[in-house]
Amino acid sequence: MKIVSTVKELTALREELKGNIGLVPTMGALHNGHLSLIRQARIQNDTVIVSIFVNPTQFLPNEDYSKYPRREEADLKVCTLAGVDILFMPTVEEMYFGTEPEIAAPKNLSYILEGESRPGHFDGVLRVVLKLFHLTRPTNAYFGKKDAQQLYLIQNMVKTLFLHVNIVAGDIIRENDGLALSSRNAYLSEKERIKALALSIALKNASQAIMKGERDAKKVELIMLESLKDLRVDYAKVLSRDFVCKEQIVIKDTILLIAAYVGQTRLLDNLWI
Ligand code: PAJ
Repeated sequence: MKIVSTVKELTALREELKGNIGLVPTMGALHNGHLSLIRQARIQNDTVIVSIFVNPTQFLPNEDYSKYPRREEADLKVCTLAGVDILFMPTVEEMYFGTEPEIAAPKNLSYILEGESRPGHFDGVLRVVLKLFHLTRPTNAYFGKKDAQQLYLIQNMVKTLFLHVNIVAGDIIRENDGLALSSRNAYLSEKERIKALALSIALKNASQAIMKGERDAKKVELIMLESLKDLRVDYAKVLSRDFVCKEQIVIKDTILLIAAYVGQTRLLDNLWI
């Protein structure tokens, strides 16, 4: 595995590559969710590039940028064992310039749900993802359904800016008890870890109601809120897969989305119906 930290080194390596290239963008502290994307990329491409970059532009001033988990050594091992060809770990100075055009996520989508609590967050995500696409020119790029709104906005960027990359969506990887894997789970105490199960339980209860025939979106939202009553809920929403509020649930065109705080930690989970 080649480890590079500068744009110059990455560009030189990229020039020599032939065949399909798979890119897996991450912010590190790698877990099995990331690994499942890397494995999928390994199967589908001749070359696998993983980026690890805690991207400052997607954190709001009051957020956890400085304390976001950084586990360089463990991440290197994971990538080596997973057969990654190129690991790109740039510094902030490599990726950002004093003056540059800013990318803005579409307003209607970037200021709801995640965007409402984290205004500007998706501008930063799209900005860095676009830079990574330009640097690596991947055939395929891998993103998890865990961050459903991020995935949708990236798919939308690729479609509307006519980018030549195929976006592959990876399923959500969970612990045995249902908790969706997240680098931020590292912030949870033992007690909080148990409380956090309410998110996946809420999704399960809602999906069971849907399986029994419930189609009223508001009623399903109430079922989720009931399961989340011990947490500070940011949102518990039933939306169509293009992120529009609908009164009625349509099977194969619905996402159940939750964001809630367990202590100080904000967790996300969702289920595609
Ligand atoms: P990060 O949170 O490190 O996640 C990297 C990728 O792993 C994302 O596509 C995310 O959806 C996916 N992922 C995280 N947890 C997962 C899980 N439990 N199951 C499946 N996939 C999971 O998302 C980001 O980084 C950043 O916003 C990034 C796209 C790298 C831009 O900075």
